[in-house]
Amino acid sequence: MRGPVSYARLIRPWLWLLPPELAHELAVGASRAAGAVRSGRRWLRAMSRVPDDPALHVRAMGLDFRNPIGLAAGFDKNGVVLDAIDALGFGFVEVGTVTAHPQPGQPRPRLFRLTADRALVNRMGFNNDGAVVVARRLAARPADRRLVVGVNVGKSRLVPDEDAIDDQVTAVRWLAPHADYLVVNVSSPNTPGLRDWQAPDRLRPLLAAVREAADEARPRHRVPLLVKVAPDLSDDALDAIADLAMESGLDGIVATNTTVAREGLRTDPRRLARIGPGGLSGVPLAARSIRVLERLAQRTAGRLVLISVGGIDGPEEALRRLRAGATLVQLYTGLVYEGPSLPGRIARAILADRANRMA
Ligand SMILES: Cc1cc2nc3c(=O)[nH]c(=O)nc-3n(C[C@H](O)[C@H](O)[C@H](O)COP(=O)(O)O)c2cc1C
Repeated sequence: MRGPVSYARLIRPWLWLLPPELAHELAVGASRAAGAVRSGRRWLRAMSRVPDDPALHVRAMGLDFRNPIGLAAGFDKNGVVLDAIDALGFGFVEVGTVTAHPQPGQPRPRLFRLTADRALVNRMGFNNDGAVVVARRLAARPADRRLVVGVNVGKSRLVPDEDAIDDQVTAVRWLAPHADYLVVNVSSPNTPGLRDWQAPDRLRPLLAAVREAADEARPRHRVPLLVKVAPDLSDDALDAIADLAMESGLDGIVATNTTVAREGLRTDPRRLARIGPGGLSGVPLAARSIRVLERLAQRTAGRLVLISVGGIDGPEEALRRLRAGATLVQLYTGLVYEGPSLPGRIARAILADRANRMA
């Protein structure tokens, strides 16, 4: 297979000589350049080989997804590589996290590879261009695109908790007119106190205010609204969020963000200590992420769209999530380890699975 061989043997070794964030920036820069010209887009399509098959089509939240495979939040925080993501064949992408205020994020280094675990640790801290710039960028995109573009919104770091709702309302007012769906991110471990907003008493008014702001910003069109949760919540806390999401008229839940846990890793504990705090993503997150999905699926019983994310590194894992109740899946770390052939491999497996079940 051309894709995996060329990425794992030829591209990844060179990319991985660089510090992880620089490698990411290089990959984004190259994708941006490729996505801007027709020959580049053709090359990206050839690498990913995602079939354009109506059998992959998913209709959810009033949106048409050409396939259920999405690029998770954090890869394209500023909406600068959408053409390349489209050419790579993803069905959807979540831009962000975008905050009302532009912010630089945490000091570098803030992204680390745990190669033995096929994982990453990041403490980026919502580095992004801010809602105004991202909104203008999204507004400039042609309307006839097929890639579904969700926008993930979070709290600005320097804004105190008492102003956090207003802060996110500001971001949503800018972004709602240009988002196919919105996600309220209360689950990143890298903004102090953010995850406390998962408590129902705080989440309820936040979701209500965001819903109202989105409706005001787009009176004739209801933008679907979801919340993104952490993998480190107890079952009771997950049930409470699921209940609140249903009561609040949300459209879905994105599960999960990165974990603060470090159990069961192969990476030397001394190295983990040197790396320090941050969110762990990739293969070690898969078990927890699927448990969260199963719990949410049981509680919501088909009333909400569930987007499963966390440790999807291949077709089997993606199929497990779809079978466990996810309507859509997303990935990030898997793309770093597996390369651009991953969405195509997953798409072909979904098609084969559907064909088998029809037989
Ligand atoms: C470098 C990096 C940056 C991320 N930034 C964000 C972010 O800004 N907002 C967000 O909701 N999730 C962010 N995530 C979390 C991912 O969207 C995803 O939930 C998580 O990585 C688990 O999926 P994965 O195992 O496929 O990577 C980030 C992940 C990584 C690795």
